Amino acid sequence: MTGLKPIRDLAPDTDHPITVIVIGCGSRGYVYTSYAKKFPQGMKVVGVADVQEWRRNYLGNKYQVPEEMRFADFRDVFASKKKLADAVVIATPDNLHYAPAMMALNLGYDILLEKPVAPTEKECKDIRDLAMKKGCIVGVCHVLRYAPYFIALREVAQSGMIGDIVSIQHMESIQYAHMAHSYVRGNWHRSKDTTPIILAKSCHDLDILRWIINKPCKSIVADGDLYYFKKENAPEGAPAYCTDGCPHADTCPYNAVSIYCKWKEHLGVFDLRGDKNPDHILAKLKDPHYNRFARCVFRCDNDQPDHYVADMVFEDNITASFSMDAFTCRGGRRTRVMGTRGYIDGDGKEFHVWDFLTRTERIWNQKVAEIPEYADSGHGGGDLRLVRDFVEAVAHQDPSRLSSDIDVSMESHMMGFAAERSRRTGKKEKIK
Ligand SMILES: NC(=O)c1ccc[n+]([C@@H]2O[C@H](COP(=O)([O-])OP(=O)(O)OC[C@H]3O[C@@H](n4cnc5c(N)ncnc54)[C@H](O)[C@@H]3O)[C@@H](O)[C@H]2O)c1
Repeated sequence: MTGLKPIRDLAPDTDHPITVIVIGCGSRGYVYTSYAKKFPQGMKVVGVADVQEWRRNYLGNKYQVPEEMRFADFRDVFASKKKLADAVVIATPDNLHYAPAMMALNLGYDILLEKPVAPTEKECKDIRDLAMKKGCIVGVCHVLRYAPYFIALREVAQSGMIGDIVSIQHMESIQYAHMAHSYVRGNWHRSKDTTPIILAKSCHDLDILRWIINKPCKSIVADGDLYYFKKENAPEGAPAYCTDGCPHADTCPYNAVSIYCKWKEHLGVFDLRGDKNPDHILAKLKDPHYNRFARCVFRCDNDQPDHYVADMVFEDNITASFSMDAFTCRGGRRTRVMGTRGYIDGDGKEFHVWDFLTRTERIWNQKVAEIPEYADSGHGGGDLRLVRDFVEAVAHQDPSRLSSDIDVSMESHMMGFAAERSRRTGKKEKIK
């Protein structure tokens, strides 16, 4: 498709590297700091913090971080009350964003902050207000805004090419094994300990809808529930752990031994150190430190819905309907945008644009857009493009280089909190 702005490559527009301390050296901390390996002229990792020694030292060694800058807890990063770097990357679990963010802002750090910002509306607003007061840059990791596919789709939707946007249908497919891994067995299985799934997983989607429509959301009504992953659906004789000789192992698509040892999916949580031998993975599944991932999906203390729908009304009565579904074969997003003169239909990788007048169809995908450095950055190229924009924002002290600063991210978080209230009460929620 011609006529769209070219997509920039990943190299930073800076004349010196910014220095960062990464707080939380797990999966996301690893991804974001990988920018420093690719572009040392843009970012230098000068500190690491994690309660898990192996993870802390893995990144610490990778970036040659001196011993005194390896911290065993986020609190230790701020204990000296001195600012030790330009910025911190906060990639701790959802319920551990607020405390390090507030400590960092009080010392004047700029922050790359994982979503969801915090588990409550008040905490989100506190972070936003303190960032404003201190004049600090806070980039929220709404990575889809930086993915070339979504950048192009939004540009088409906003260009007038399909007339006025009237409505959108958007679907997030979680994929059945990913649901079991993350929201039944794993880190986000209990909403009270983390955040409700509409924030933990789908705040990206609410954010993308708000961003494509480019108008505020006025109201939201939501529904959804946990249909399947509960004890009354456990087949007879299923033990508490899949590794304990389950009689249904061969017929259960959620069998942990198959998902991890056979299909080798979602292995990042096991700290395998490169050894993906099935016996090694099985040993991890039996290790008390990791065996929560071997639990029978019908016997976990989970509460996150496995299907969720939300209808939204935006300014000018533009409507959007959203559906989040666990029971799909693939993960990813599908979006249809209905305009007065045309229509967009996309599957997360490629989108088609129909023009009602000429009855012609145009296609956007990675190949036709000739995008450099795409494949090795997750979320459709969004992960490292977010880091590039954050690096530039900090280096130039220019928050406008980020499209997901804390202030705009607040809106989609408020939509998420309102959706969850609506799902629980059955009432339509107005967004103030
Ligand atoms: N933007 C996205 O698309 C995206 C994708 C996945 C996860 N996330 C979010 O990123 C965050 C991190 O997720 P993850 O998948 O990397 O989790 P993870 O469990 O892999 O990493 C979190 C790390 O934080 C460490 N930690 C815990 N307590 C700590 C403390 N007191 N001090 C220092 N470190 C501590 C843990 O030991 C762990 O290594 C979560 O909030 C999650 O919701 C965002």
